[in-house]
Amino acid sequence: MGREFIELFEEWSKSYDDTVDGHNLEYREVFLNYERILDSVVSRVHGHAIEFGIGTGNLTEKLLNAGLTVTAVEPSPAMREKAFEKLQHRTDIVDGDFFEFPKLENVDSIISTYAFHHLNDVEKTKAIAIYSQLLKTGGKIVFADTMYLTKEHHKQAILDAKSSGYHNLANDLSTEYYTTIPFLEDILKENGFTVSFDKCNSFVWIMEAEKL
Ligand SMILES: C[S@@+](CC[C@H](N)C(=O)[O-])C[C@H]1O[C@@H](n2cnc3c(N)ncnc32)[C@H](O)[C@@H]1O
Repeated sequence: MGREFIELFEEWSKSYDDTVDGHNLEYREVFLNYERILDSVVSRVHGHAIEFGIGTGNLTEKLLNAGLTVTAVEPSPAMREKAFEKLQHRTDIVDGDFFEFPKLENVDSIISTYAFHHLNDVEKTKAIAIYSQLLKTGGKIVFADTMYLTKEHHKQAILDAKSSGYHNLANDLSTEYYTTIPFLEDILKENGFTVSFDKCNSFVWIMEAEKL
């Protein structure tokens, strides 16, 4: 479920770290403050973390350096290979996704950056219900991703990308499942979390949810 975009990452894996460094003009704003965003995610989590959609392993590396135990989950074989080059044997990298992953007993934090938009809203709802069952009181979900205050803001972002000539970005914003903050807030509250959102650039917010 939710794996329909992984083909894109087989190719993108080769240049992904150049993109996050700001070398791809279309995506420069999306990845603005990338390192700071990852550092901020690390500062909010603790204990044993499951990280979904690790890509080339940039966040995983920071989590390991901060002393966390990480179960790293990534569906794209090419991304897993890149992450393995970076992380070597510091942690296991599992073939899986937001639904298929080792269901560990003691999980403190569920983490992801730039990946939750690969699930549509029905799938997002199912995923949050599963994570709610896994986490104990005080456990956290911390996701950084593109999200919007309203559907109108999302539509405007697509128009802005088109008028800047950023057609890949416009296509990405139109075809993947970018959602709204009120929607995320509702599903988290329904599943027993408190949640806050912090804006990181004109696309990305950090969503920090804590299990009550
Ligand atoms: C834009 S990259 C982000 C990589 C990394 N987290 C980062 O912040 O740089 C999105 C990642 O999500 C992965 N992905 C795509 N669909 C997924 C799914 N259904 N479950 C988990 N990860 C998924 C992709 O393979 C890719 O590695």
